[in-house]
Amino acid sequence: MKSFNIAAYISGSGSNLKSVIQNSFKGVIASKVKLVIADKHASGLDYPASLGIETAVISRAELTRSEFLKMQSELLKKHKIDLIILAGFLKKLPDEIVSEYKGRIINIHPALLPKFGGKGMHGMNVHKAVIEAKEEFSGPTVHFVDEIYDSGEILLQRKIRITAGETPESLQKKVLEIEHTIYTEAIKLLEEKES
Ligand code: GAR
Repeated sequence: MKSFNIAAYISGSGSNLKSVIQNSFKGVIASKVKLVIADKHASGLDYPASLGIETAVISRAELTRSEFLKMQSELLKKHKIDLIILAGFLKKLPDEIVSEYKGRIINIHPALLPKFGGKGMHGMNVHKAVIEAKEEFSGPTVHFVDEIYDSGEILLQRKIRITAGETPESLQKKVLEIEHTIYTEAIKLLEEKES
């Protein structure tokens, strides 16, 4: 089975990252998370750091563009990263990284893309928009990342029915629970494809 060296990019609590790490420990996937990069001091860095996984905060605001790129590039090379997973990462990856790792970057989004994607569509904003639009279904999407927000080829999607009285909060809870299995499934699919 192909085993990827994974780098995860996060901005928040990192529950998706945690589920991938735990599924890797359980042997559900052969790949291993080697590196976690955040754009700020995200609480989701604590779990991987406690396991000895290298973590880094690389904030565009504190660096020149070339320093910003160089820091990421060097870490990705150091850990021989061959799969990047965006796990609640709210910034856009630099185009240079997207083109260098094309076909090897995936993202998880909490709605049924191509609906409810694009700039500003993240986390609770997405669930609010879905409820306001009176959608019948929602659910997470895992897709390849290209230069345009949320537009790359879809790898996996899981649909759930929105029940009467659903709130953005209740929907977020249901979708996140599915995210915690679907992201690992997507990585497994990529492992199988390369075996
Ligand atoms: C997840 O619901 C993920 O789908 C979403 O952010 C949350 C991160 O949660 N991502 C986006 O909205 C990207 N557009 P986590 O930090 O607990 O994994």
